Amino acid sequence: MPEKILILDFGSQYTQLIARRVRELNVYCEIYPFNNAPALTEDVKGVILSGSPCSVRDPEYPTLDLSQYLGKLPVLGVCYGAQLMAHEHGGEVTPSTIREYGRARLNEVHSQDRLFKELTIGSVVWMSHGDTIKEIPANFEVIASTESVRVAAYKLKGQETYGIQFHPEVTHSEEGKILLRNFVVHICDCQQDWTAEQFVEGTVAALQEQLGNDKVVLGLSGGVDSSVAAMLIHHAIGKNLYCIFVDNGLLRKDEFETVLDSYKHMGLNVKGVDAKDKFYSALAGLTDPELKRKAIGRVFIEVFDEEAHKIENVKWLAQGTIYPDVIESMSVNGPSATIKSHHNVGGLPDFMKLKVVEPLKTLFKDEVRLVGRTLKIEDTILGRHPFPGPGLAIRILGDITPQKVHVLQQVDHIFISNLKKSGLYDDVWQAGAILTPVQSVGVMGDERTYENVVALRAVTSIDGMTADWCRLPYEFLADVSNEIINKVKGVNRVVYDISSKPPATIEWE
Ligand code: XMP
Repeated sequence: MPEKILILDFGSQYTQLIARRVRELNVYCEIYPFNNAPALTEDVKGVILSGSPCSVRDPEYPTLDLSQYLGKLPVLGVCYGAQLMAHEHGGEVTPSTIREYGRARLNEVHSQDRLFKELTIGSVVWMSHGDTIKEIPANFEVIASTESVRVAAYKLKGQETYGIQFHPEVTHSEEGKILLRNFVVHICDCQQDWTAEQFVEGTVAALQEQLGNDKVVLGLSGGVDSSVAAMLIHHAIGKNLYCIFVDNGLLRKDEFETVLDSYKHMGLNVKGVDAKDKFYSALAGLTDPELKRKAIGRVFIEVFDEEAHKIENVKWLAQGTIYPDVIESMSVNGPSATIKSHHNVGGLPDFMKLKVVEPLKTLFKDEVRLVGRTLKIEDTILGRHPFPGPGLAIRILGDITPQKVHVLQQVDHIFISNLKKSGLYDDVWQAGAILTPVQSVGVMGDERTYENVVALRAVTSIDGMTADWCRLPYEFLADVSNEIINKVKGVNRVVYDISSKPPATIEWE
């Protein structure tokens, strides 16, 4: 069991960021809803109480029994977490009378306090709160202030309990990372030994223990998560891992063949299943995006189940579930709101009765990539843009036919290979092309044409939740557009999508 920091979530939009910052310090941490925290065990070295959109002045403010942590191990309350501890000890939290949002400077700091080791006086911090701590309880002392916020940080006398009203986890807090390091390393005494190498070593050993000689089946998608999950399990149990890679006829041009080849090179026991026709028949005539998604999900399960049944005595289903899926499936609003399916291959059909193994379920996406690199997975797989499960079906507006898929594959291929050739691929979070049902008039040589419009989409993003359109160079777009119109029969006009998310989404359907 690695030592860890427990992060108790009161619903702040920044809670995951706190976890990521702690992990960047090579310290393992876990997030739990404040009302569903596990009992303290020896491996827990400290607790962080997150921020919250709530106020301690609400009659039903979220709280917990602080006595189980305070004085027993180091605690850091961030924003609401700090206000909560002050409130519960008899301090006074009132609505802010001045604006406590945006950048501020820590101009009075107890520099000798371990929380502020190596922080500069005047350091910029990010404030974002509607309430403020007006009076602290008697056994608290103020250890940092800004010009307008007297209680920017406090400490409980005689114990390692701290509260800060700013957000060290956001990058606007210039030295926030140093403060978090001070807490987890100097105050909680964490060893910073949680690395990708250590994760691989520990997980492979744990998988060997858990799976023994059992057979495991896993659906590969060509994406980062399923590939890394497969390699980890492969390291643990070798040929007892049976991978299935389904060609749904909605993948990118040549993707099925090239990715299948890469998997074989990696030594995986993988079976490619050509199920194109099944998917095309299920999709025939469907135009509604959700119906298309459902049809694809259903056929995938049918095909996967049929293949899995061919593996005699298989006991486990492996999935590439990652930590954000797990966090989303736990809610701070109580157990009633906690159940959400997070299976990324469309859900496990009940009748398969397989046990589920999810070796990546404690990792963030960037950590999955680091683990993949440690496992020496090719960059072409690790650096790949996200690609939706329903594939090109949700980039062909309207009904799906193999001919339309063929047209879009060619367009997409020209766009993506030019991004790679120009060195722009890695600057883009996700890119692709959309085949619209709109036809427009054009002229080619002496002939009038009446063909489809395609749209190109390229976005920057961190996690797909919000996104902005990429400012790709005009010359690049001009070359791609020319090549598409010259080479792809059936397309005579190319447009570029300049919508951000929100209010648009990344995919058109
Ligand atoms: P949107 O279009 O919601 O997409 O902005 C956000 C991210 O999710 C991907 N996406 C999907 N992935 N099944 C998936 O596995 C889906 O049905 C699906 N729809 C969207 C999208 O490609 C982007 O990365």
